[in-house]
Amino acid sequence: MKIRVDPEKCQGHARCYGLAPEIFDVDEYGQASVIVDVVPPELEDKARLAVANCPEYAIDIISE
Ligand code: F3S
Repeated sequence: MKIRVDPEKCQGHARCYGLAPEIFDVDEYGQASVIVDVVPPELEDKARLAVANCPEYAIDIISE
């Protein structure tokens, strides 16, 4: 699975980082980024949880 954060939509709510710090980082400006190239299978559920919990719908699944 591959995911990305749309920097135009991200408003720094940091729920993604709170739910899955293994997958996301948030910089000092409140901008989230994905820190893995491919989400490991054991983290896919967490990634989906983060997608569902971003209030700005800023996280997209690029490929399953
Ligand atoms: Fe940004 Fe959504 Fe995470 S707004 S910091 S991608 S929860």
